[in-house]
Amino acid sequence: MKVTHSPKGMETLRHFLLDICGVEAGWKMEDVMEEEIKVIRGMVGPQDHVICALSGGVDSTVAATLVHKAIGERLHCIFVDNGLLRYKEQERVMETFEKDLHLPVTCVDASVRFLSELKGVTDPEKKRKIIGKEFISVFDAFAHELEQKLGKKPTYLVQGTLYPDVIESCPPPGSGKTHSHTIKSHHNVGGLPKDMKLKLIEPLKLLFKDEVRELGKILDVPVSFLKRHPFPGPGLAVRIPGDVTQGNALDILRQVDEIFIQAIKDAGIYDDIWQAFAVFLPVKTTGVQGDQRTHSNAVALRAVTSQDGMTADWYYFEHKFLDDVSRKICNSVRGVNRVCLDVTSKPPSTIEWE
Ligand code: XMP
Repeated sequence: MKVTHSPKGMETLRHFLLDICGVEAGWKMEDVMEEEIKVIRGMVGPQDHVICALSGGVDSTVAATLVHKAIGERLHCIFVDNGLLRYKEQERVMETFEKDLHLPVTCVDASVRFLSELKGVTDPEKKRKIIGKEFISVFDAFAHELEQKLGKKPTYLVQGTLYPDVIESCPPPGSGKTHSHTIKSHHNVGGLPKDMKLKLIEPLKLLFKDEVRELGKILDVPVSFLKRHPFPGPGLAVRIPGDVTQGNALDILRQVDEIFIQAIKDAGIYDDIWQAFAVFLPVKTTGVQGDQRTHSNAVALRAVTSQDGMTADWYYFEHKFLDDVSRKICNSVRGVNRVCLDVTSKPPSTIEWE
């Protein structure tokens, strides 16, 4: 398979499609938007109500804005705090939804139930499944409440699934294989429980990330929002290998991540990076902090450049930047005495650690 990392990969694909197959490059994002709006209107009956789960990321926000344009106030958005969000994420995204996007959003704090279901679970796929299942139960409950309010049950759920999620979660058509489990069961594609009562609308499922950003621009989503780095649905759970409820891993990770991201923004390199984040390492290492020996956790920093998340290169930071960030983390986050840098590309690694 040709990818952007293959030598002359893009040129080869272009030559194959345009010169050999005779395909015309007349594809416009405006047409995709109009087409999607038509599809949504055709799918959702005039009396139907739709729920959209906003994650605070680009994908679900663009998906919601598109569906809002198609069906107006019959769209009802929900933002779930699953206890796996970044530092002050709930406050930050709710402010943006209300102030900039004017989307009607109900915020549900479900952190206690998510974390109690995840307690002691170490298998990455099991964690994803649990998170997917909890999300759906929260949506079901929200749908039930809406039903009481509207006198009609919402029938659809919008998800910001992208094409790479679909590719990496489904076996190739006709292959007879089930390789979805050998890669990842992204919660929003592979992990949905079979008894889910809401039907899915996935208006971005044929688009790549850069295309979603382009679509967002046409839909007037603020550029600052569109430039946010992707954040996975299972949140910090895939950045804490093992049990996410171990010690104060979540709290430590939030603080480290915030320092790292803020430093990246201050250095003016946020937009050069596809995705940056910290990982909590479930190992204790020895350190000397002040006059004392410590036995604390190590954290890893990961930053990658990418076109679409399918392949990625690790980002080359200046040494001074890394030195400053590492010092700041160890000096200000209690429970961390070692900072590592992830220098692997995708492949062979994935972007997330789980
Ligand atoms: P990987 O780790 O597969 O990540 O190289 C590729 C892109 O997908 C995001 N990602 C996820 N998104 N649910 C999501 O919604 C998931 O389970 C998930 N796992 C990875 C990842 O952040 C990156 O942008």
